[in-house]
Amino acid sequence: MKPKVFITRKIPAEALEKIKEVCEVSIWNNEDVPVPRDVLEKEVVEVDALYSMLTDAVDEQLMEKAKNLKVVSNMAVGFNNIDLKVATKRGIKVTNTPGVLSETTADLTFTLMLATSRRLLEASDFLRQGEWKTWSPMLLTGQDVYGATLGIIGMGRIGEAVARRAKGFDMNILYHNRSRKPGTEEELGAQYTDMETLLKESDFICIMTPYTPETHGLIGEKELQLMKKTAILINTARGGIVNEDALYKALKNEDIYAAGLDVFENEPIPTDHQLLKLPNLVALPHIGSASIKTRTTMANLAVENMLQALNGKVPPNLVNTDVM
Ligand code: GLV
Ligand code: GLV
Repeated sequence: MKPKVFITRKIPAEALEKIKEVCEVSIWNNEDVPVPRDVLEKEVVEVDALYSMLTDAVDEQLMEKAKNLKVVSNMAVGFNNIDLKVATKRGIKVTNTPGVLSETTADLTFTLMLATSRRLLEASDFLRQGEWKTWSPMLLTGQDVYGATLGIIGMGRIGEAVARRAKGFDMNILYHNRSRKPGTEEELGAQYTDMETLLKESDFICIMTPYTPETHGLIGEKELQLMKKTAILINTARGGIVNEDALYKALKNEDIYAAGLDVFENEPIPTDHQLLKLPNLVALPHIGSASIKTRTTMANLAVENMLQALNGKVPPNLVNTDVM
């Protein structure tokens, strides 16, 4: 009998075909809305594998219903939507898609650095609204990226990919991480600092750390106050790492210069949210890894992880290694 799989969103056709060759597939074939909880709860009852997205809460209550579940293959590098402890306890393998999206996400991180510092969206709106009367020395002036100091919080693969780009912009690179990375320090000239020094000295602060109980609210009022008035905060990791009320105040009072966010505490952020009224915020709808090539690669890697796990093998990107 073929193993049963539930896929929680429309995925690239080639990835879907690979699954269909060997599995009995049920799919929430919708791009616009996540699978409703009641549908998800019904679908998991019989499945051997769940092909999930970061928008699906794979919690104890869900896994409790999924008596045959052997693997949760998350099509994302982040896996904060999954209760790992419960999965491990129940012998369910959890996998993610690290590595393959690092460069694409670093590209978007740099896009946000450039867009915020050079006031890209403000400038574009200015032109379209007919406000452009003449060239002027002080018009829409911003901050330089080239030669500035970059502070990277979380020097994983994505952090390193951002640092490599920063080197080309002749930036001075500081980083903070749970452990020091001597190889990265040598290769990229990145300098390890404590959090306070990083916050005080950086012109750009990029959050590149996983979302865990320890990083929840990592950037709050105190941290924002330590930053330069000209500092720019970029978050392409997870929204909950930044306290949005504190960020709103800091941007509104011009305690920092600008922020670029691809992620929010609650996604989608409501369009009437106070943050979206600020001119010094660039907001994007969680598209860090959204290139056609990378999303296809992620989808295929998630397939491989899932199929290996179903075959009783150790999948290439097993997150809860203690499940084996
Ligand atoms: C996207 O945010 C991911 O975790 O892959
Ligand atoms: C992503 O691949 C990371 O580990 O930072």
